[in-house]
Amino acid sequence: MNVLLIGSGGREHALAWKISASPLLGKLYAAPGNPGIASHAECVALDVADHAAVVAFAKEKEIGLVVVGPEAPLVAGLADDLHTAGIRVFGPSAKAAQLEGSKGFTKDLCARYGIPTAAYGRFGNAADARAYAQEVGAPIVVKADGLAAGKGVTVAMELDEALSAIDACFEGAFGAAGAEVVVEEFLEGEEASFFFLCDGKTALPFGTAQDHKRLSDGDTGPNTGGMGAYSPAPVLTPELEARVIAEIIEPTMRGMAEMGMPFAGVLYAGLMLTKDGPKLIEYNARFGDPECQVLMLRLKDDLLPLLLASAEGRLADFSPRWRDEPALTVVMAAKGYPGTPEKGSVISGVEDGGDGVMIFHAGTARDASGRLVAAGGRVLNVTAAGATVLEAQARAYAAIERIDWPGGFCRRDIGWRAVEREKAAD
Ligand code: AMP
Ligand code: GLY
Repeated sequence: MNVLLIGSGGREHALAWKISASPLLGKLYAAPGNPGIASHAECVALDVADHAAVVAFAKEKEIGLVVVGPEAPLVAGLADDLHTAGIRVFGPSAKAAQLEGSKGFTKDLCARYGIPTAAYGRFGNAADARAYAQEVGAPIVVKADGLAAGKGVTVAMELDEALSAIDACFEGAFGAAGAEVVVEEFLEGEEASFFFLCDGKTALPFGTAQDHKRLSDGDTGPNTGGMGAYSPAPVLTPELEARVIAEIIEPTMRGMAEMGMPFAGVLYAGLMLTKDGPKLIEYNARFGDPECQVLMLRLKDDLLPLLLASAEGRLADFSPRWRDEPALTVVMAAKGYPGTPEKGSVISGVEDGGDGVMIFHAGTARDASGRLVAAGGRVLNVTAAGATVLEAQARAYAAIERIDWPGGFCRRDIGWRAVEREKAAD
C-alpha cells in the first residue's frame, strides 16, 4: 500500500521511520517532509493547505492511507475532504479536532460529561474575563481559545499578569485564536501525557510520556514546544492509568460520539495528577512532538496496521506491544529559539547516532551545496533507548557529543524526574 505522510517535523520523521519498516508498505510519500524523512520517503512539494491538490495527488499515486501529523491541517478539515473523496485517512475530522482546536469546546465537553478538569469560565470579551479572574484571584490560568502554536497559555502567579494576558488576547496577540478566552483554576501536581489510538468507538492506550516544556535546565525559563521527553511516564501507575481511562477518556469518546463527531486518530491527553486525582489539562488531536519520537522507538509492532485500523474502525481487535526499556529524546534547538532561531548554520555528525540511538530531523534543510543546515527552532531529536532512563539519557547525550553543530544547544537534564525516581528506588 502507498502512504502519504503530511508534515515536516521530528514527529513525522519518527512516523516515517516506523512506517517505512512495515512489510505492508508500497511507497511512502511525505509532504513536505525534511532531509531526515527523505531517507525513508519521497518528499513532495504539495501545498497541504490546498486540499484539492492533496486529494488529486492521493488519487494519482494510488495512496491507500494518508497519515496527518500536525494539528493545523486537521482543524482545517483535511481529513474530511480526503474522506469525502473516498481516501482513507488517519486523523480526526475538523469537528472532532475541536478537542485541540478550541479549548472552550473541550471545557464544555468536560462540564457536560462530568470529566475532571480545572474549574473555568469561557469569555468573548475582556471585561467579563477580567471580572472572573478578579473574582477567582491568582494563581490563575488564561488561555486563548484557538490554535496558538503552544504560545496561547499564561500561567499567572499574579493577578496583574492574568489581566494583561486577557487584554493581549482580545487585542489580537493570537489573531482569531484569541477572539475567545478560557480563564481557569490553577492546578497543582505533576504533569503526564497519555496517548490513545482511536477509531470513533475504541480508545486504545498507546503509551505514556512526560515532556519538558521549559527552555532551560531545572524546568525553568520560557515555554517551548518541548525540549525533550521520555516514555513511559513512571508517575502514571496502572491504577492512575485505569482512572484516567474510566474518568476522562471513556466519557470523552462517548460524548464525542453522542454529539455526532466521533473521534478517530490520536487522542493525546495532557494530565495534571493532583491530590484529588487526575485532571485533564488539555487534549491534542495528534501525536506529541517530541513524545511521538520516544513512542515510536518503544513500539514493537508494525505501526501501519494500527493506523489503518484506526481509519477503518477496527482497533478493538488490537493490543500493541511495547519494549519494556524506556526511551528518551533530547531536542537540539537553534540558537535564538524560542524567539527567532538563527537559520542556516551547518550541522554534521548526524548520520549515525550509534547503538540504540536514532537522530530524528525536525527543522533541518539542505543548502544549495547539499549541506545539512538548521532551518527551524527545534532542529534535531536525539532519541535513545536504554535499560533505564539513566542509560537512555547517557546514550542520547553521548550521541550529542558526536554531533558537530556550533549553532545549536540543548538542555542537559532531560529525564531528571524519572532519573531521580530510579535513584530513589535503588
Ligand atoms: P498547554 O499549551 O495547554 O499545554 O499549556 C501549557 C502548559 O501550561 C501546560 O503544560 C501546563 O504546564 C500549564 N497549564 C495549563 N493549564 C494549567 C492549569 N489549569 N493549571 C496549571 N498549569 C496549567
Ligand atoms: N510536546 C508537546 C506537544 O506536542 O504539544
